[in-house]
Amino acid sequence: MSNNDLAVIVLAAGKGTRLKSSLAKVLHRAGGRTLVEHVVRACGPLKARETVVVVGYQAEQVTAVVEPLDATAVLQQPQNGTGHAMQVAKRALGRAKFAIVLPGDAPLVRTETLKELITVHRNGNAAATILTAVLVDPSGYGRILRKTETTVSAIVEESQLNDEQREINEINSAIYCFTLEKLWPALAQVKPNNKHRELYLTDAVAAMNAKGDTVLAHVAADSREVLGCNTRADLAEVDRIFREWKRNALMDAGVTIQLPETVLIDPDVTAGEDTVIEPGVQLLGKTKLGERCTIRTGSVLNDAVLGDDVTVEPHCVVVESRLENSVLIGPFARMRPGSHLKTGARLGNFVETKKAVIGEGTKVPHLTYLGDAKVGPKTNIGAGTIICNYDGFHKHPTNIGRGVFIGSDSVLVAPVRIGDGAYVAAGSVITENVPADGLGIGRGRQVNKPGWASKKRRELAAAGQPKKTKKKSKRRKTSRKRK
Ligand code: UD1
Ligand code: MG
Repeated sequence: MSNNDLAVIVLAAGKGTRLKSSLAKVLHRAGGRTLVEHVVRACGPLKARETVVVVGYQAEQVTAVVEPLDATAVLQQPQNGTGHAMQVAKRALGRAKFAIVLPGDAPLVRTETLKELITVHRNGNAAATILTAVLVDPSGYGRILRKTETTVSAIVEESQLNDEQREINEINSAIYCFTLEKLWPALAQVKPNNKHRELYLTDAVAAMNAKGDTVLAHVAADSREVLGCNTRADLAEVDRIFREWKRNALMDAGVTIQLPETVLIDPDVTAGEDTVIEPGVQLLGKTKLGERCTIRTGSVLNDAVLGDDVTVEPHCVVVESRLENSVLIGPFARMRPGSHLKTGARLGNFVETKKAVIGEGTKVPHLTYLGDAKVGPKTNIGAGTIICNYDGFHKHPTNIGRGVFIGSDSVLVAPVRIGDGAYVAAGSVITENVPADGLGIGRGRQVNKPGWASKKRRELAAAGQPKKTKKKSKRRKTSRKRK
């Protein structure tokens, strides 16, 4: 389908009073993106000649979201209704013959549905074609007054419904295809005859009918696609639907998701075949999972890139980090930005890394912090090892070679290098480089005193128990404190 006679117009200038928020409605997020971004992205594959977004409330922030998507923002100030927003959009339009018009707050619409709408409009030679839906609960939406089985005589807004019209459950999605030379004269006749004194785009439908123009309706096959987000409850419902669609797409691609309704996955996340995602997992940002990975319960991955056969045990947090094939982390591991585990490396419980490259097959099994560090392959980092990478002013690097053994409870004060094959004795505070194959010991020497303990016990027994009066005076002190 060639659409070089088509413009896309997204109406996104309103505040969204019903959300009770300082943030513009179209900047609220559902399904991992702002509402307006979903709408503009859905129109991308239509390959229209131009995309115009009408902005007003928090115009700068909305513009910053849509301009990278190749849309042009035009300012509507003040916001006098959807009809007025269209008059503003007109100023920015080139020579398009048709326009797809969408509200910025109905983010579930799919490209396929928009293509159908355009086809119905072109084939029917209509002045306007409205995307409608039949809802069990139509409250809050404008209702469709049918003229014939295929045509529409008017749209009546919720606030202007009479009792009979209130029973109509076919609603206006506020997504339309217009023939622009028919729309502009009809819109010019619309008056702000409502309690908000706004120009309603919906009133253009009755004006078109009065001129004898054809207005068609196209009913969306899946009524969920047209849901608008006017309230927090609407946002939650739309988010739930997006998440469900994303999980279904991954399951169709061969991913196992246990208790799917508990798993939150952002739209750009990918996962390979036979990967298993346990309940309560969040996969966010541009996270990529390879094949046969297991992400166990309660883990949160954000912009994480995993190879194949990676296991993330329960309750790990991984941000902007890379885990190569066959890596295992957790439970309770935290990988902060810039962490990179090479093939077969392991991080155990209560291990934190930041800007740390950990070599192939290296093990960091328990209770450790590694920051600004490079660790070679086949090295073992003992329990409780801490890198002091920060001196209060600057961060310093630590370099640990291949096949190194760091004894438990050691502190490595950066900058410091531990050469290949070296040992660090348990409990050391290492402030100087340790040469390859050497042993670094940085602790007080142990002294044993034979018989010391029994001598001490005899001394204590001879001295007797402490006097009771002392204890009493202590108690009095504490009771006074409590008062
Ligand atoms: C609108 C429709 C209603 C439809 C519903 C579907 C009108 C008058 N009513 O109602 O028939 O059932 O959508 O979701 O169109 N906007 C502007 N400038 C303005 C006013 C609004 O750009 O001056 C934008 C808003 O930012 C929003 C969109 O237009 O993205 C729709 O406005 P909204 O206030 O949400 O209209 P609804 O009451 O939902
Ligand atoms: Mg709305």
